[in-house]
Amino acid sequence: MNKPKRSKIPKRGKIEVRAAELSDIEALTRIYAGSNAYAQTLQLPFQSLEVWRKRLTTNDDTQHSLVATVAGEVVGNLGITRFTRPRRAHVGEIGMGVRDDWQGKGVGSALLAAALDLADNWLGMRRIELHVHADNAPAIALYRRFGFEVEGTHRAYAIRNGVYVDSLSMARLIEGPRITKGAKKAKP
Ligand SMILES: CC(C)(COP(=O)(O)OP(=O)(O)OC[C@H]1O[C@@H](n2cnc3c(N)ncnc32)[C@H](O)[C@@H]1OP(=O)(O)O)[C@@H](O)C(=O)NCCC(=O)NCCS
Repeated sequence: MNKPKRSKIPKRGKIEVRAAELSDIEALTRIYAGSNAYAQTLQLPFQSLEVWRKRLTTNDDTQHSLVATVAGEVVGNLGITRFTRPRRAHVGEIGMGVRDDWQGKGVGSALLAAALDLADNWLGMRRIELHVHADNAPAIALYRRFGFEVEGTHRAYAIRNGVYVDSLSMARLIEGPRITKGAKKAKP
């Protein structure tokens, strides 16, 4: 008998995405304290609240930090950062994590959809790039679904629980935004 497909509708309500606030520091720390969340990102098993406080308070126009909530509870995070070197100003980098007990329920998809809308339609980015551990099948599947392609492999990119693991570079490119037709010339 076929296993029923897991429902993507969270049991406790609708997934909403908003900007991260200073009051989310504890929830963000909790997300990345999950053993899968820190293992599959570049976070550490013991991270103080201070790390997130610094990240959120040094926020400037190049950094956009989003959170996903379900019934008001923060269960996922995505950060998108624009490169500051002038010739890479069209490029943004993404990092994300969903709380371990909320993975596989559509939270990552909601965050990524919101971040790409922001990047494409409001920030005018043309290339979004990221790194993902080569064995992180759920993340790779999610990124491919949103148009990211694998560009290469970095060998022994990061240490994870005593092993140097490979990482993939993935990127998604889009055409530039259209330009409005100019207003009709005023009659002399
Ligand atoms: C990767 C991550 C952000 C995705 O968020 P999420 O909320 O779990 O993602 P979603 O539920 O929206 O979608 C996950 C997709 O992976 C798929 N998936 C799950 N396990 C899979 C597997 N073993 N192989 C392939 N695909 C898999 C799901 O089926 C789903 O795709 P679908 O909607 O087409 O069915 C989240 O799982 C996470 O935080 N993981 C730990 C930290 C991490 O990996 N961060 C990203 C670092 S680059």
